[in-house]
Amino acid sequence: MSAKKTVDKLTADEAKKELARLAEDIAEHDRRYHGEDAPLISDAAYDELRKRNEAIEARFPKLIRPDSPSHRVGAKPSEKFAKVVHAVPMLSLDNAFDDEDVADFVARVRRFLGMKDDTPLAFNAEPKIDGLSASLRYEDGLFVQGATRGDGSEGEDITANLRTIKDIPLRLEGKVPNVVPGVIEVRGEVYMSHKEFAALNKRQEKEDKPVYANPRNSAAGSVRQLDPSITASRALNFFAYAWGEASKLPADSQWGMLQQFKAWGFRVNPLTRRCETAEEVLKFYREMEKKRASLGYDIDGVVYKVDDLDLQRRLGFVSRSPRWAVAHKFAAEQAETVLLDIDIQVGRTGKLAPVAKLKPVTVGGVVVQNATLHNEDEIARKDVRIGDTVVIQRAGDVIPQIVRVIEDKRPRGAKAYKFPDKCPACGSHAVREVDEKTGKEDVDRRCTGGLICPAQAVERLRHFVSRLAFDIEGFGGTTIETLFEADFLKEPADIFKLTRRPEELGRVLAEKRAEQSAERRAREGKGEVKAKSKKEEEGEGKLVENLVASIEARREIGLDRFINALGIRHVGETTARLLARHFLKIDAFIEAMEGKGALEELNTIEGIGDVVAEAIKDFFDEPHNRKALDRLLKEVDVKPMAKPKTSGSPVVGKTVVFTGTLEKMTRQEAKARAESLGAKVSGSVSQKTDLVVAGHGAGSKLSEAQKFGVQVIDEDGWLKLIGDA
Ligand code: IVH
Repeated sequence: MSAKKTVDKLTADEAKKELARLAEDIAEHDRRYHGEDAPLISDAAYDELRKRNEAIEARFPKLIRPDSPSHRVGAKPSEKFAKVVHAVPMLSLDNAFDDEDVADFVARVRRFLGMKDDTPLAFNAEPKIDGLSASLRYEDGLFVQGATRGDGSEGEDITANLRTIKDIPLRLEGKVPNVVPGVIEVRGEVYMSHKEFAALNKRQEKEDKPVYANPRNSAAGSVRQLDPSITASRALNFFAYAWGEASKLPADSQWGMLQQFKAWGFRVNPLTRRCETAEEVLKFYREMEKKRASLGYDIDGVVYKVDDLDLQRRLGFVSRSPRWAVAHKFAAEQAETVLLDIDIQVGRTGKLAPVAKLKPVTVGGVVVQNATLHNEDEIARKDVRIGDTVVIQRAGDVIPQIVRVIEDKRPRGAKAYKFPDKCPACGSHAVREVDEKTGKEDVDRRCTGGLICPAQAVERLRHFVSRLAFDIEGFGGTTIETLFEADFLKEPADIFKLTRRPEELGRVLAEKRAEQSAERRAREGKGEVKAKSKKEEEGEGKLVENLVASIEARREIGLDRFINALGIRHVGETTARLLARHFLKIDAFIEAMEGKGALEELNTIEGIGDVVAEAIKDFFDEPHNRKALDRLLKEVDVKPMAKPKTSGSPVVGKTVVFTGTLEKMTRQEAKARAESLGAKVSGSVSQKTDLVVAGHGAGSKLSEAQKFGVQVIDEDGWLKLIGDA
């Protein structure tokens, strides 16, 4: 390709075409490189293609294709994990919760083996790693298959993902068959360290992705990715501690097996200890309990295993657990402290989340000063009051929980907590929605100040400029964040005010870019940036010019897009269109929403239910929103919708049936549109039916239409007929 346009000059249409071409080209190069070992282009040229793909996707995130090369690295990931039947089942362990349970376990073992109390019986004591177990199959020393535990009999094939874990040797050290058996399945735990866990969650947060609750979940989530490159990007670890099928066992004790694992190249937990007596085993437990907080990874107990493999064989299993082992679990880490305050944090979607502010206290080696209170009902159920002494607990999860209140220690006069009904970030009303079907209140209270709430602002503004709303080109997420932080942008109207201060706009954006590049250089260990060249300055000027032009280009907008842009809860593109077609003009819409009969009127609109109607009403009831809306209307010109034709409509008075899956509209929307054109929409086909619109996978109704000789058209035919195509 010659003289390629720079990415910032591409139109959406060009971008779409190029992304399609890139997906195809890169896939072809991948196939040649990985599958056939016969690359057509240099690595550098290949990297260029991927970079170009990434850059276009960064600018047009909505156009990212399902088959985009950015979703994968190397060979194509499978659609779903294949099943693996475990030749030897993967068992679980019986639990012991106190010393007595452990004594019972030891007595049971002795009794089963007919062993006298003074006969020596050695145990291997190991930390119980809180991750997920995996089985690794080696044939002739080569790692050929890795699986999850699944239900114990059948797991999932996650070979490709496990290959990315550096603790898992791809080839066992030592010669086959003297040192390495022909077939051996090594089992153990995949886990994530606290450090990596914290770093991962930080990255997730930065990329607006959900954060993981604890290292175990994040290890499991990481290993069960369809794309191995994601697994590879997360540093996972593996400890070997058990085995499955084996053509020959290299040792006759659990301890000996672990030593062999080490020799083959695995990591074995260094704290593992061979204990000669039951007392030693308990001593190990207490030591681990103390060490637990400083290990850098989660353990939830210790495991005792009869060391001698012959004895293990004799002991065998009861249902799904071995008789020769037990997991001695740690008690959940609890502590008492005082609830100093309840802080209400507002999430990006407006959810009010209560956070307990605690007098700092150490729980299992970690200083805790915040705990989750979940929601309003939870606070009421536990009757948590400010000033209360509470029991908190860390149960694997990073965020501790409040278990209960110690009522005896409640200070006199402590009042029941009243959950705020105003948003602490913007002062707007905060409401709990009622589910239409069940009549139940949502557990969460949400802020209704969508347009002005600073906690939600960036997200709202992003939606405001997005493709199906105002569609302002070149106004991406980072631009919004930069301008928001610089106090240039608080609400939608501000976007249009920017065009009157291009110099300042340019300065803020340039400063941000300089800051980013300085950070990057510092990270890469490079020195100061040189002064900007004339050319660079001109380039920046051009960028601002383009941005101003794309904002100006959107000062006029259709009512449906405008309503969608407002980001009213539950009002997306489809509902916005229904509203626009009903009200036709923005003034009529606002006036109706401010009147007494707002809900009634909304209820007459086909396709708008109670929950949606309430949300719209809540939005307009919030004075902050109304003011922001007025400010916006001073900046933009909302074009009225064309009145739908009823007279002269090709379908007036006709009975229409929609069947099959429609792609360009929802069923509800199709029905509403047909009715607005004067048609009658029916759910079943009869002799009276005039027209059947058949989407994909249309079945019995289609055959009935044919039986009655009713005219059948497809979705596109329908759109053409009613003039919407
Ligand atoms: S032995 C036949 N050893 O705990 C015995 N399990 O609650 C198989 N686990 O599914 C398990 N550390 O995921 C064993 N040192 C250890 C362990 C361990 C963690 C996990 C493993 C197992 C679960 C049973």
